[in-house]
Amino acid sequence: MSSQPPTLPRAFLCRRFTAPVEAALHERFALTMNEDDSILSAGQIAGLAAGCEVLFVTATESIDATVIAALSPSLRIIATLSVGYDHIDRAAAGEAGISVLHTPDVLSDACAEIALMLLLNACRRGHEADRLVRSGAWAGWAPTQLLGMGLVGRKLGIFGMGRIGRAIAVRARAFGLEIHYHNRQRLAPALEDGAVYHEALDDMLSSADILMIAAPGSPSLRGTFDARRLALLPVGAVVVNISRGDLVIDDALIDALHSGRLRGAGLDVFANEPRIHPGYRALDNVFLSPHLGSATHETRDAMGWLLIRGVEALARGEEPANLLR
Ligand code: DGY
Repeated sequence: MSSQPPTLPRAFLCRRFTAPVEAALHERFALTMNEDDSILSAGQIAGLAAGCEVLFVTATESIDATVIAALSPSLRIIATLSVGYDHIDRAAAGEAGISVLHTPDVLSDACAEIALMLLLNACRRGHEADRLVRSGAWAGWAPTQLLGMGLVGRKLGIFGMGRIGRAIAVRARAFGLEIHYHNRQRLAPALEDGAVYHEALDDMLSSADILMIAAPGSPSLRGTFDARRLALLPVGAVVVNISRGDLVIDDALIDALHSGRLRGAGLDVFANEPRIHPGYRALDNVFLSPHLGSATHETRDAMGWLLIRGVEALARGEEPANLLR
């Protein structure tokens, strides 16, 4: 009597993952994928992923109630290659009995590195410096050329002192920055590690030389940094955002940078990516990067493996640590 090979679970991959992760997915799933890596609309996902049990997504896909309804009841797991999950309607997933996996922890160091890249470039005028050398217009060293803001003794105000915020704080301390933070709740002393807690966000803003936006994206935080809050920052302050673009009101930030009230900004995330507010492109005092927070080889592999291990754990009836509850 010949035994049937076990049937692999059907999965759909919405974006191209790293080669090692894709190879591992092919071994474990009957995998269909979006070969050309385009950003799929909700309607396209509903059609292409019909009948799958596992849906691998990223933050570029909107997994709303219509997609979830269209893929139910076969869909059992949504696995997102991101720590953020504001692109997934979790309530709709929960009602449909679908588990949602994400990728916390493994990307904290990579995101903190990008945060420091943005901070340094915003404070030391990285965009203007690069352009000057490339343009061929550089006439040589000068005592007052492209003077920036030094970091030692400055106050860094971190909005969102979670895993990524704390990884940023570790690195920022080495640059001589004094760490302040605002969270809904104060951290235990060991996690705080000497950082100054501000129960009120407005209070932290009024003393922050550099504002670091590192909170997880969430509909409840949209528009947090509006004209009123940005005006609380000291004149000459710097704003860095590695969270989600929609936490900031673009017109308000652009006005403050244009007038020179704010010295500069470093932005890795934007509202309506990739169609960013055109006002940013016209500003010299902004350093821009295209949502690269977790973009290292090691990290993207680790994120993929975390999702694979999570799907395997769910199949065994376990609750993996990266399951959203
Ligand atoms: C995340 O992990 O949430 C990053 O922003 C990539 O989407």
